[in-house]
Amino acid sequence: MNNTIHYSELPNGKKNPILKNSKKVLFPFLTLALLISMSFYLSDYNNNESILNASEGSPRNSTSPRIQDAKERCNIFKGDWILDPLGQSYYTNETECVIDDRQNCMKFGRKDDEFLKWRWKPDECELPKFDAMQFLEVVRGKTLAFLGDSVGRNQMQSLVCMLASASYHPKDVSYVPNTTFRRWFYPSHNFTIEALWSPNLVKANEIDANGYSATSLMALHLDKPDEKWSGRIEHVDIVIVSAGHWFFRPLYLYEKGLLIGCVMCHDKNITKMSRYHGYKMAFRTTFETLMNKNFKGLVFLRTFSPSHFENGDWDKGGSCVRTKPFSKDEMKLDGYALEMYMTQVGEFKKAEKKGRKMGVKFRMMDTSEAMILRGDGHPNHYGHWPTENKTIADCVHWCMPGPVETWNEFLLQMLKSERG
Ligand SMILES: *[C@@H]1O[C@H](CO)[C@@H](O)[C@H](O)[C@H]1NC(C)=O
Ligand SMILES: *[C@@H]1O[C@H](CO)[C@@H](O)[C@H](O)[C@H]1NC(C)=O
Ligand SMILES: *[C@@H]1O[C@H](CO)[C@@H](O)[C@H](O)[C@H]1NC(C)=O
Ligand SMILES: *[C@@H]1O[C@H](CO)[C@@H](O)[C@H](O)[C@H]1NC(C)=O
Ligand SMILES: *[C@@H]1O[C@H](CO)[C@@H](O)[C@H](O)[C@H]1NC(C)=O
Ligand SMILES: *[C@@H]1O[C@H](CO)[C@@H](O)[C@H](O)[C@H]1NC(C)=O
Ligand SMILES: *[C@@H]1O[C@H](CO)[C@@H](O)[C@H](O)[C@H]1NC(C)=O
Repeated sequence: MNNTIHYSELPNGKKNPILKNSKKVLFPFLTLALLISMSFYLSDYNNNESILNASEGSPRNSTSPRIQDAKERCNIFKGDWILDPLGQSYYTNETECVIDDRQNCMKFGRKDDEFLKWRWKPDECELPKFDAMQFLEVVRGKTLAFLGDSVGRNQMQSLVCMLASASYHPKDVSYVPNTTFRRWFYPSHNFTIEALWSPNLVKANEIDANGYSATSLMALHLDKPDEKWSGRIEHVDIVIVSAGHWFFRPLYLYEKGLLIGCVMCHDKNITKMSRYHGYKMAFRTTFETLMNKNFKGLVFLRTFSPSHFENGDWDKGGSCVRTKPFSKDEMKLDGYALEMYMTQVGEFKKAEKKGRKMGVKFRMMDTSEAMILRGDGHPNHYGHWPTENKTIADCVHWCMPGPVETWNEFLLQMLKSERG
């Protein structure tokens, strides 16, 4: 795993999330969040064409309360973190599953464990604990793909460890010798999990004259999907799309083969563009591709995962040393994180509408508001990178175990609600 690509998974040039200091700023976000949550309520729970067949091996005797029923209309993404002193993580660093050293905070000496004891409490219901057996019944016979970057892989590995904690172990059936397109197969449930490594989602080339690095220049073809995933999507039933931190690099942006501008570049003769344009178009192209390929499955957008560098940017000594979540009074989605979020949500809403006609279901796994509070959940210096540089903290990925498990609790509830 000595690939330079791992090093480059550090983000570029982001500012710290801004501490909340103005009710005026708060208001627009709450309004937006309300609008967004509508799409989750209004999705068609009783659709008979659901790819998840309600009659397939449904574990009706599960001990989990069935809270995500359509009628109850609980928005599981609006809530708060609650300290549960007896709370236990689903797995440890000793569990038989792949925990990347870069997120293995326990192994590399993180001593505090309170960050493992906060559970997400939706305002109007409970979020059930993850039930591995129930999950595997819901996805029986399916292929679930994680399309995106290393934060998406973080969720994928978390899911595999959550299943391992209930003694479900997959076979590695990867067709490449690295983690970029890893496939894990669960024979007992004919279920496949796979990574589709594509941090920019669209066709991307490295074009830096000085070679590849964390801050090297890349060219993005905003109207062309990355063929490495688009060529493999037809056998996928459920895809979780996410992207974010790779859009903070220096970029040349192309449309129809023509250079239309650049982000963070110094060329005087190229139009400077906002990084949000590239981000928007990458999602547009991705969603369009999913509608135009022979894909008739379920698409989840896992929304932007905020980083928490404090006291400096990632490359200026910034770190994330907190041991407790922020309260909602201290922190909210703001600044660039809010802009990234709104950009992708705008494209999501258009795709969701069009997808209804095209037979592709779009659902939003709206994790951003929960995760902006979890400045305590990152590896900081308790991760081990192949290119060791102790001066760089990781405040982007999530410790495993850690709050990233909540995403898979959301995933199970969302998959269950597809079955009516
Ligand atoms: C759902 O299950 C029913 C009964 O087993 C079966 O007839 C139907 O074909 C299944 N539909 C899908 C989409 O798998
Ligand atoms: C629930 O189902 C499992 C497996 O199908 C079975 O072993 C168990 O006894 C059931 N529990 C109850 C309370 O019915
Ligand atoms: C797990 O973490 C503990 C405590 O940090 C450490 O002593 C142990 O060696 C780790 N085990 C593995 C397999 O990483
Ligand atoms: C496993 O799932 C695949 C894809 O859904 C299906 O084609 C195949 O028939 C399944 N195999 C078994 C043994 O159920
Ligand atoms: C992963 O393996 C594939 C196939 O050998 C190779 O083309 C690709 O460059 C590798 N990626 C990384 C990041 O090492
Ligand atoms: C920008 O101008 C320089 C100098 O005139 C030229 O070498 C370079 O190719 C130009 N770049 C683009 C993208 O047109
Ligand atoms: C480690 O990171 C710091 C901060 O970005 C940088 O100044 C330094 O050159 C890096 N050292 C190595 C060995 O990469």
